Amino acid sequence: MKNEPYAARTHEAMKDVLYDPAAAGPAIHYYMIRGGAKKRNITVWDSGQVGGEYIKTYGHYHLDDFKETYTILAGSGILLLQNRARDQQGAPIDDQIDRFQALVVKPGDSILIPPYDGHLLVNIGDSWLVTSDNSPFGTDETAGAPRHADYEPVKKMRGFAYYVIEQHGRPALVRNPLYKRVPPASIAPLE
Ligand SMILES: [Fe+2]
Repeated sequence: MKNEPYAARTHEAMKDVLYDPAAAGPAIHYYMIRGGAKKRNITVWDSGQVGGEYIKTYGHYHLDDFKETYTILAGSGILLLQNRARDQQGAPIDDQIDRFQALVVKPGDSILIPPYDGHLLVNIGDSWLVTSDNSPFGTDETAGAPRHADYEPVKKMRGFAYYVIEQHGRPALVRNPLYKRVPPASIAPLE
């Protein structure tokens, strides 16, 4: 059976990973239309904040070393990247982060997600944020939960190592206290 290629991430689902899960928010935080590597996938973020936190995607890790490229088509965003520490067997440690980056992105930017980095995008502008990416998608997959993506470690940690919160009218990083070890981080331009 061919599945629908579109999905919406609801406020209800996003409560797993919000800075303030009790805060009110829009019924839908972002929309996905999936076409796969060649046709590409489109994501559209609503604007605004939920309990002071800018609207964001849920965030995920990849299950293999797949290299994903995001192109910013419209709007203004911050890309969060986090790389987990590994134990002696090479398994990732979900609550210990070796590298964390918060990069300001704008239309025309194309960003290669480093393999195995957790990634999410935050809409810091007043308009829709729109991206195109080349992650795989098969006709037997579910648009809201593609096979290549691992959402569970993010759910377990109630989001990434930092939340992007509006402070004095500007985005700022606020640490997620559930993580045991996190490097200091600041919002920086994409190089
Ligand atoms: Fe991804």
